[in-house]
Amino acid sequence: MRMITLNIFQMSKKIIRIGQFRCFCEVIQRSSDAPQKIIGDPNLIDIHPSWRQDEDEDLRKQVLRDMRVIPNFITEEEEVSLLTEVESQLKKLRYEFDHWDNAIVGYRETERKAWNERNSVTLCRVRAAAFEPSAHLLPHAHVLDLAPAGYIKPHVDAVRFCGDTIAGLCLLSDAVMRLMHELRADLALDALLQRRSLYIMSGVARYDFNHAVLSNEESKFRGAKLIKKRRVAIICREQPNKESD
Ligand code: OGA
Ligand code: MN
Repeated sequence: MRMITLNIFQMSKKIIRIGQFRCFCEVIQRSSDAPQKIIGDPNLIDIHPSWRQDEDEDLRKQVLRDMRVIPNFITEEEEVSLLTEVESQLKKLRYEFDHWDNAIVGYRETERKAWNERNSVTLCRVRAAAFEPSAHLLPHAHVLDLAPAGYIKPHVDAVRFCGDTIAGLCLLSDAVMRLMHELRADLALDALLQRRSLYIMSGVARYDFNHAVLSNEESKFRGAKLIKKRRVAIICREQPNKESD
């Protein structure tokens, strides 16, 4: 019960935070020959033992379809190139640690719309893999830099500011993302987000489960401790659905 109350509270904070990124909405033009739906690696998802095999099987199948992790989506060179471009913006900012009520602890963030040619090609590839060709995307990518001690508390991205699919490119460090059903804490899974992977979250994973990036105190995958270092995520989102206005 405490968990649920906390999440509602964090959601309202999230609305304010993501709201800062809602400046210009426009349709991104992409070619119509987008590739088939990309498949995630099921080995990078670990369903918690509290979610018993015979329990809510349809939901389990659905969340596994809706939370996809694609390892090595970008090369080391593409990672360096993206980091180089965002670093000049990020280094002007200080990591925020002191707002006890923030959904994110130990972070700095920015957004970017115009990328150099090489990085534009990489981000086009992300968008083509993650979104339906007809999707209306937010033109800015959200750049979220977590300090080694940083983490993200459980939250659902606010529907007022973000549409159906969220695609996050993971740079610099591996991390564990935990998805937990909003009403049933026993229905949970961990996703191993390796450096240079892309995750694509939609459907029930985006709306019925909250997501968190674990702190180093909690961070382990299939029982093995995982030390998260500084991590930068470049997150592409859709425009909010009209009904949510
Ligand atoms: C967010 C979020 C996840 C990530 O900014 O809402 O959940 O991969 N970020 O950093
Ligand atoms: Mn989020």
